[in-house]
Amino acid sequence: MDSSLNFCIIFTIVQCFSISFIDTISSPVGGDHDGSALIGADSGINSVPDSNSLKNQSVRTLMARSDSQSCEVWTEACSEAILSLAKRPDVVDWLKKVRRRIHENPELAFEEFETSQLVRDELDRMDASYEHPFAKTGVRAWIGTGGPPFVALRADMDALPIQEAVEWEHKSRVPGKMHACGHDAHVTMLLGAAMILKDREHLLKGTVVLLFQPAEEAGNGAKRMIGDGALRNVQAIFAVHVSHELPTAIIGSRPGPLLAGCGFFRAVITGKKGQAGSPHRSVDPVLAASAAVISLQGIVSREANPLDSQVVSVTWFNGGSKLDVIPDTVVIGGTFRAFSNSSFYQLLQRIEEVIVEQARVYRCSTTVDFFEKEYTIYPPTMNDEKMYEHVKKVATDLHGSHNYRVVPPMMGAEDFSFYSEFVPTAYYYIGVRNETLGSIHTGHSPYFMIDEDMLPIGAATHATIAERYLYEHGE
Ligand SMILES: *[C@@H]1O[C@H](CO)[C@@H](O)[C@H](O)[C@H]1NC(C)=O
Ligand SMILES: *[C@@H]1O[C@H](CO)[C@@H](O)[C@H](O)[C@H]1NC(C)=O
Ligand SMILES: *[C@@H]1O[C@H](CO)[C@@H](O)[C@H](O)[C@H]1NC(C)=O
Ligand SMILES: [Zn+2]
Ligand SMILES: [Zn+2]
Repeated sequence: MDSSLNFCIIFTIVQCFSISFIDTISSPVGGDHDGSALIGADSGINSVPDSNSLKNQSVRTLMARSDSQSCEVWTEACSEAILSLAKRPDVVDWLKKVRRRIHENPELAFEEFETSQLVRDELDRMDASYEHPFAKTGVRAWIGTGGPPFVALRADMDALPIQEAVEWEHKSRVPGKMHACGHDAHVTMLLGAAMILKDREHLLKGTVVLLFQPAEEAGNGAKRMIGDGALRNVQAIFAVHVSHELPTAIIGSRPGPLLAGCGFFRAVITGKKGQAGSPHRSVDPVLAASAAVISLQGIVSREANPLDSQVVSVTWFNGGSKLDVIPDTVVIGGTFRAFSNSSFYQLLQRIEEVIVEQARVYRCSTTVDFFEKEYTIYPPTMNDEKMYEHVKKVATDLHGSHNYRVVPPMMGAEDFSFYSEFVPTAYYYIGVRNETLGSIHTGHSPYFMIDEDMLPIGAATHATIAERYLYEHGE
C-alpha cells in the first residue's frame, strides 16, 4: 500500500502541475576573474568564439550608448540596447548551447547538481557574485550596486520523471527523465538576463538578485529557498514560464489570480470487519465512505461563491476484496483547487470536516491526511497589480503591444506562490508554440518541445523587468 500510495501521489502531483507552460540556458559574456575577457575559454560549455572582440564590441557599442542614455527615463534606445545585445548571433548561439546542454542532462527535484554547477560556471565566467548552496542545489547570485533597492528574478531548475519521446539531436540522455516543463529554458533565460545585466552593471541603480531554484515540480523548492534566506532584502520578485499556448516569444500574463492553489487529501475510514450476511455485527466503512464522497460534492456546489472557481475531485476509492465480507477500512482521496488563499484553506478545512462527520454518522472513525509533510500543498499564484503592470509595461515597450496578451487563469499550480507570501510578485508566460517545428504539446507531455528562438526575448524581458524596476524604485 505504501508503494501504491507513493505512486499515486507522484502521479497526481504530475497532473497537478500539468500547467501548459514551459522554458530556458549559458553566457557568452563572461569574465576571467581578472576581468580581461568576457568569455571563459576553457571551462564548461564551449565558449563562443572570438570572445575578446565580443567584449570590445559589447563595451563600445552597447555600454557607450547606455551611458549616454542612462535610461532613467525609459526610451526606445534603452529597450533597443538590451534587445540588440540579447539578439546578437553569438549570444543566441550561447543561449541555445546552454539550453541544449541542460536539456540533455535532466535532473529531478533536489538532484540538480550538474545543472547547478553549470549555472555557477557561467556566473563565474561573467564574474557575477553568488552564494551556494540554497535549498541543497540552489544558487543566489547578484548583480549591481550591492545596495537597495533589491529586485529578484527566479528560475526553477528541475526536470520530470518522464521518458522523452521527441527524437532530436539534443534529446535527454538520461532514461526516464526529461525537461518536459521547460525549466531548462527558464535557467537559460535567467543566465541570459545575468549576462545582459552584467554588461549593464554600471547603469544599475540597485541590486538584481537571481534565484536558481530546485524542486518546483515536487518538494516545494521555493519554500526551502525562502527558508535559507533567498529573499533577504528583496522587495519584489518576478518569474517566467514557457507556454505552448502562446506563439513563439509572445508574452502573456494577467493581474490577480493566475494559477490555482493545489492540495491533495487521503482519508482512512475505519469501521469493523464482519460477514456481509449479518451486517448488524459489523460497522460498514463502504457505506460511510460513499456518503462522504456524495457530501464532498456539496462543498463547491453549495458553499462556494459560484464566481470564485474551485474544484474538489475524489479520485480514489479503495477498500475490501471479498464479495461477502464487509471490510475494516476504506481509503478515499483526491485533490482540491482554488484561486484565493482563503478559499483554498476553507476547502481544506471543510474536506476534513465533511469526511470525518459524515463517517461518524455511520459509526466509523476517520483520519485525514493533507500530505503537508510531503510538501504537496501549493497556495494559489496571485499577481500583485503593480508588479503585473510593471511586467506589462516592460513587455509592451520592449516588444510592442501586439506581442503581449492577457491570458486566462489556469487550474495548474506553481510553487512560485510561496514567494508571494512575503513580497509582491508577478509571474508571466513566454510563448514557445510553433506549428512548423511541432512545439505544440503541453508541459509534462513526453512530446513537449520549445521554439528556442524565444530564448533571447525571454532573457531581454527578464533583464529589463529588473533594470527598470531599480530605476523606478531607487532614490
Ligand atoms: C579591445 O579594443 C582595444 C582598443 O580598440 C584594443 O587595444 C584591445 O586590444 C582590444 N581587446 C581585445 C581583447 O580584443
Ligand atoms: C494563506 O493562509 C494560510 C493559512 O491560513 C497562511 O498561513 C498563509 O500565510 C496565507 N497566505 C497568504 C499569502 O495570505
Ligand atoms: C517557426 O519555426 C520555423 C523554423 O525555425 C521558423 O522559420 C518560423 O519563423 C517560426 N515561426 C514563428 C511564428 O516563429
Ligand atoms: Zn511542470
Ligand atoms: Zn514548470
